[in-house]
Amino acid sequence: MNKDIEEILVDEEEISEICRRIAADISEDYRNSEKKLLLLCILKGSVVFMGELMKRIDLPVEIDFMKVSSYGAGTATTGNINIHLDLQRRDMKDIDIIIVEDIIDSGRTLSHLTEYLRMKGAHSVRTCTLLDKPSRREVDFEPDYCGKVIPDKFVVGFGLDYDEAYRALPYVGILKREVYEGK
Ligand code: IMP
Ligand code: MG
Repeated sequence: MNKDIEEILVDEEEISEICRRIAADISEDYRNSEKKLLLLCILKGSVVFMGELMKRIDLPVEIDFMKVSSYGAGTATTGNINIHLDLQRRDMKDIDIIIVEDIIDSGRTLSHLTEYLRMKGAHSVRTCTLLDKPSRREVDFEPDYCGKVIPDKFVVGFGLDYDEAYRALPYVGILKREVYEGK
């Protein structure tokens, strides 16, 4: 185990099971859709989860990427999202989008992004997250697909970072406080 990790919260086996379960649910839910299914990966944290998830979905899928960040506290409207890399498509009305996120914390990023994509004319927009910290919510938001609900701890690995480090760990672990405290 990495020396900066206090405890493994979701190990490789559990992550595989989560991906299999969510992929099966998605395959079932979109089986009869006449639209194109688009998995929209939110960079950078969701890259690893997206790769594991997409190969288990038993339907044709397209993939795309966005890079976004939400503004800080006190902002609650659709306009309050920073888009660093946008979705460039002419066929918005023909796609069912599933936003793939690594973790939901305040809920701001996904609630703003969902609104934004609906405004842009997507046929449908749903959300899928590997991890959820509902105790941290600042806006009312529930994902459609959720891998695992976790307590209010700062976690890294399987795509998630602290200051761009730890993304390549094959598991999700709680980062030792001493790594980020006093910095
Ligand atoms: P929010 O739901 O808009 O507050 O933001 C979610 C984003 O915050 C995620 O996409 C992550 O980039 C980041 N984040 C929240 N909690 C954690 C964590 O425990 N570890 C790493 N990144 C986190
Ligand atoms: Mg993120």
